[in-house]
This record gives sequence, C-alpha cells and structure tokens, in this order.
Amino acid sequence: MPNQSFSLTLASEKVTKQFASRLGHLLRSKDIILLSGKIGAGKTFLARALIQSLLTEHEDVPSPTFTIVQTYKTTLGELWHCDLYRINNSEEIDELGLLDAFGSTICLVEWPDRLKALQPREALGLHLSYTRLSDTVRNLEVSWTHSRWNEARTLQQTERSHALSR
Ligand SMILES: Nc1ncnc2c1ncn2[C@@H]1O[C@H](COP(=O)(O)OP(=O)(O)OP(=O)(O)O)[C@@H](O)[C@H]1O
Ligand SMILES: [Mg+2]
Repeated sequence: MPNQSFSLTLASEKVTKQFASRLGHLLRSKDIILLSGKIGAGKTFLARALIQSLLTEHEDVPSPTFTIVQTYKTTLGELWHCDLYRINNSEEIDELGLLDAFGSTICLVEWPDRLKALQPREALGLHLSYTRLSDTVRNLEVSWTHSRWNEARTLQQTERSHALSR
C-alpha cells in the first residue's frame, strides 16, 4: 500500500483540541499513533486532548517526558502515552515492554524516531510543525500506509468544512 497523507492547519489550541477529539472518535482498542515534531510543537498537547476525550472522568494528563510511559484506562480500554526522547537503544525499548504494548493497547508515542526500524507500519503518523503565521498556529501532517487508517481522510473533510463555515 502506498503512503497516504494530508496536511491541515491547526489554527489555534482550540482547533488542535477539536482535531484530537475527532480523531478519538475514530480510534479502536489497539491503534498506534506516532507523534513527531520538534520540541514544543504540540505533541503532548494533542495527545492530552485525545486522551481526555476518551476518559469518563476528568484526569490530569502529565507529559511523560520523565516517566517515559503513562497509562490510562479509557473508554476503549488501556492506553499508553509514551515519550521516547530519552531512549537511547533497543534494549531500553525492550525493557519498557513497548513492543508487547503494540497490538495489545492503544499507544500514543512521542519521539517515535527513537524506535528506528521498530516503528510499527500499521501506525498512524502525526507530524506537527511550527508555522511562520503565529505562535499558536501549527501545521499537521497526517500519514499512514495501512488501509485501517483510510477513514482518517474524514478528518480532513471535517476540518475543511469547518474552515469554510467560519
Ligand atoms: N495550535 C496549537 N496546537 C498545539 N499546541 C499549541 C498550539 N498553539 C500553541 N500551543 C502550545 O504549544 C505548546 C506545545 O507543548 P507540548 O508540550 O505539547 O510540545 P511537545 O511537542 O510535546 O514537546 P516535547 O518534545 O518537549 O515533548 C503548549 O504550550 C501549547 O499550549
Ligand atoms: Mg511532549
């Protein structure tokens, strides 16, 4: 299957939150989302909004920068939120149990480049980047190869129709 992708402008924190909860509606129990982008691009912000949209009661969602993995019980089952920034080799990835978590829990992974060849091909990729427009505008590239994610195109359509109605 060839690479599929589309880009969106996340014009404010509010739009990022809306995108995250729309994506939350598409998620299934074993999905993997790889969140890439520079420091401060908004990976944790988007992941937090996504996780909170899947919780029955409000819970703080801290950045996993120091703990590396934070786990949540969501309406779709267990979810792991990981930040691999400080991971240096595949032994450390093994110790985390992340490869077992892939395929058994929902996984949201920041800094997925640390996985190198272990990056799961069935994942949805979200790449956030700064724009020159403003401090609160981000570009988001959504990409995938697995047909499971073809329905992610609906997120593009929804965003467009929102943009048109503003
Ligand atoms: N449109 C936007 N979408 C997401 N975040 C935004 C947006 N506009 C401003 N921000 C701000 O950008 C910051 C993003 O920080 P965040 O911790 O999510 O970055 P990160 O990509 O996870 O960085 P790190 O690599 O250090 O983990 C937050 O303070 C957030 O409020
Ligand atoms: Mg982060």
